[in-house]
Amino acid sequence: MLAAVSTQSARTALMVAAYRARATARKDAICMDPYATALAGDDGQAIAKAYDAVYPHMELWIAVRTAFIDGLVGRFGALGQIVILGAGFDTRSARLARPGVRFFEVDQEEVQKAKRARLAAIGGYPDKATYVTCNFEKEDFLDRLSAERFDASTPALFIWEGVTPYLTEAAVRSTLRRIAQRAHEASVLVFDHLRRKIVVGDVQNPKDLESRAFVADLGEPLRFGIDYPLPMLYEEGFRKVRALTFDEICLDATGTYDRERAFRFQGVVLASRTTAL
Ligand SMILES: C[S@@+](CC[C@H](N)C(=O)[O-])C[C@H]1O[C@@H](n2cnc3c(N)ncnc32)[C@H](O)[C@@H]1O
Repeated sequence: MLAAVSTQSARTALMVAAYRARATARKDAICMDPYATALAGDDGQAIAKAYDAVYPHMELWIAVRTAFIDGLVGRFGALGQIVILGAGFDTRSARLARPGVRFFEVDQEEVQKAKRARLAAIGGYPDKATYVTCNFEKEDFLDRLSAERFDASTPALFIWEGVTPYLTEAAVRSTLRRIAQRAHEASVLVFDHLRRKIVVGDVQNPKDLESRAFVADLGEPLRFGIDYPLPMLYEEGFRKVRALTFDEICLDATGTYDRERAFRFQGVVLASRTTAL
């Protein structure tokens, strides 16, 4: 019996886990998360099923995003520390564990509690993560990480996946600033973002408005969107920036572009102070 997830904040995270589960089960799977089905549970699957009717491309988006970031863990994992910000039901610490690499998961207390309750209920999960609670709107995740033996004097890979749309611009900027100014200069950050239009509702297609309303109804309204993130990253201290469209990483992952501009609102960014990206 899975632990009930009572918090509103965990519902988008559950939905994403459900999409990862479905993507993993495909014959031509782009990403692999063997724990996602158990973590998502029937409630996660039900949310994903309801969202399909609004935005049928979400499973592909999540599959490509997961695979792209998994690839970065392979590329930058040797940095030795991987910090997953807004981790939700992330399972990389189990799936991508390797000797000498520490994984930290940062999330709101209630979401983390819900995840850990589910992990305990499914059993057999090789739980290697160090858990740190933080609300990015009002707390300092780097102080909290340091209290858990995160070493800011050595580089880290920071993963911030599917989180920025739900934060205020102030929280997005303070998170960027902390990484740029207080983590080791060779640290690397990856995050995804939405464009401003969809966040503020300046869209013509009723389906886009429906999609925006759906996530708000899950308890996490869209709050932050940006079209061209490079100036913000520069202002907050990064000097190496690579901004990609989702179409680019989707083309890499699938070899096709036949999606009728389904990913026109999504972007992915890699940033560092000194590491070439
Ligand atoms: C859509 S889920 C993504 C979860 C996970 N990164 C993934 O891709 O599967 C959004 C995550 O952001 C977290 N989040 C939202 N607002 C937050 C805040 N103010 N402080 C900390 N985490 C937050 C939620 O708790 C949730 O885990």
